[in-house]
Amino acid sequence: MIRLFRKAPDSGRPRRLTASVLRHNPADPASVPHWQDFVVEEAEGMTLFIALNEIRATQDPSLQFDFVCRAGICGSCAMLIDGRPGLACRTLTRDLGERFTLAPQPFFELIGDLSVNTGKWLRGTAERLRTWVHAAGRPDLDALEERMAPELAEAIYELDRCIECGCCVAGCGTAQMRPDFIGAIGLNKIARFRLDPRDTRSDEDFYELIGDDDGVFGCMSLLGCHDVCPKQLPLQTQIAFLRRRMAALGF
Ligand code: SF4
Ligand code: F3S
Ligand code: FES
Repeated sequence: MIRLFRKAPDSGRPRRLTASVLRHNPADPASVPHWQDFVVEEAEGMTLFIALNEIRATQDPSLQFDFVCRAGICGSCAMLIDGRPGLACRTLTRDLGERFTLAPQPFFELIGDLSVNTGKWLRGTAERLRTWVHAAGRPDLDALEERMAPELAEAIYELDRCIECGCCVAGCGTAQMRPDFIGAIGLNKIARFRLDPRDTRSDEDFYELIGDDDGVFGCMSLLGCHDVCPKQLPLQTQIAFLRRRMAALGF
């Protein structure tokens, strides 16, 4: 097998990368947060997923981080890469300097090192915002669904592309100050279910869920969410739309 390496400028050798990782195990009372450097040799097409696995396999099996799909679909590998939320499996080391930092996403409960419990927060948010289709009456499971215009299905699908990585919350200044803020992900979900014709909730029902400082009025239009969303969801447009609709309804 031929391995191709990115060469360090003028040296003829692959780069030696230093990943400075913020380590901490909250389950261990003796653990103190600290930075630990790991050096890996860069390979052609190397992602942070590959680099972290190499570190764990050859240098420190105790290093904690999450991956499932390795394809930007599951959202589990989000972390702060040089201070910016992003997906480790979709980040090529060639786009980083020879030295970079990796830290867990803020806002979410820390499991250890780079692993955070986004699932716990997402479940709580889903229950709070009731993010499922509310159909009137008892559904007839044998009935065919009403047809939906392709444009509408497309618009719902666009918002459904959210992979629940949490980057938008980790990159939001409001979320760092307000632990109950639902973030752009919560606002996006309300926008998505509001569009769905199978959901019989009224605009007022939806806006009751987000019409306070932990919802759309807490958003200070910082737009970090929009900048860091790895799926390029139209978060800015959705938040502005919800605001306008709420104002029109007199909220
Ligand atoms: Fe991630 Fe974007 Fe969904 Fe936020 S809206 S959780 S950044 S995919
Ligand atoms: Fe936060 Fe995005 Fe609003 S970054 S303040 S949710 S525009
Ligand atoms: Fe699934 Fe990165 S491992 S998005």
